[in-house]
Amino acid sequence: MIFKDELKKRAKEIEDELITYVRTKDVPEKKLNEAIEYSLMAGGKRIRPVLMLEVFRLFSDDIKVVMPFAVAMEMLHNFSLIHDDLPGIDNDDFRHGKPTNHKMFGESTAILAGDSLFNEAYLTISESIRENLSNEKAEAFYEFSHSADRMIIGEYVDTEFEGKPISQEYLEYIHINKTAELIKGSVRIGAILSGAPKDDLEKLTNYAEKIGLAFQIKDDILSEIGDEKVLGKPVGNDKKKNKCTYVTKYGLDVAKETLHKITNEAIQIISSYGEKGEFLKELAIFIETREK
Ligand code: IPE
Ligand code: IPE
Ligand code: MG
Ligand code: MG
Repeated sequence: MIFKDELKKRAKEIEDELITYVRTKDVPEKKLNEAIEYSLMAGGKRIRPVLMLEVFRLFSDDIKVVMPFAVAMEMLHNFSLIHDDLPGIDNDDFRHGKPTNHKMFGESTAILAGDSLFNEAYLTISESIRENLSNEKAEAFYEFSHSADRMIIGEYVDTEFEGKPISQEYLEYIHINKTAELIKGSVRIGAILSGAPKDDLEKLTNYAEKIGLAFQIKDDILSEIGDEKVLGKPVGNDKKKNKCTYVTKYGLDVAKETLHKITNEAIQIISSYGEKGEFLKELAIFIETREK
């Protein structure tokens, strides 16, 4: 398996589905719909829905059960990015190598495009539940709402402490909530919908917690030493804003060591699935080594 090709294939599987949710009618809210499409189809890696589908596939093949939740997770993620870039939060001008949503469409439209995506996510899940309700879907709906709640809380604490020194405990709290929670939620929803046994749900949750934290440590590293052209978003901004990150607090070497240690722990956990867990193992390695 060539992981990058496989990831691309799976990202496309998500994108083919996502595009069907984009509203294109010539209506008064046309610009809002364009702003939504702009961010949703801007070239994200689709890590969260890909993870959800892969975990689901460990135990079931009936992809149509998980797809609405996977699409909803990507909508939720894109809402978080649009709002994260706003002047009131990170005030960033570039993402995916293009102007951020508010730079392109104006602040009010960007706020509402984010709101709309947030709600579209719930609408997508509710349509699936309305069609056919199961205990697994009810449980997955709870997981989804819970991880959205934690992500927002993480964003809040991150914003609140910008420019201030923070303890190790608080830094981890921010990372776990603002970033790891959606990753953990994706894994848990995939497992729950597939009817995975409790032991597997627990094991996969542990794996997700590791790669979730690793994901943000790597984001901190890329924000310091990434190649802006490849990354598609600003490099050096965290430092400029005096933001406390794994890199600014512990230095680049320790951040890299921690990232490597957590990645190995994730690999260790997933190795019990053997061949079946190969993609998830490669995904953990990708999170550590990615350049964007
Ligand atoms: C960026 O997430 C924001 C964080 C939570 C660190 P991704 O790097 O997954 O964003 P895209 O969707 O691939 O651009
Ligand atoms: C983003 O964190 C987390 C969420 C949007 C929930 P960052 O602000 O560190 O991520 P980037 O670097 O802008 O993508
Ligand atoms: Mg931020
Ligand atoms: Mg940001």
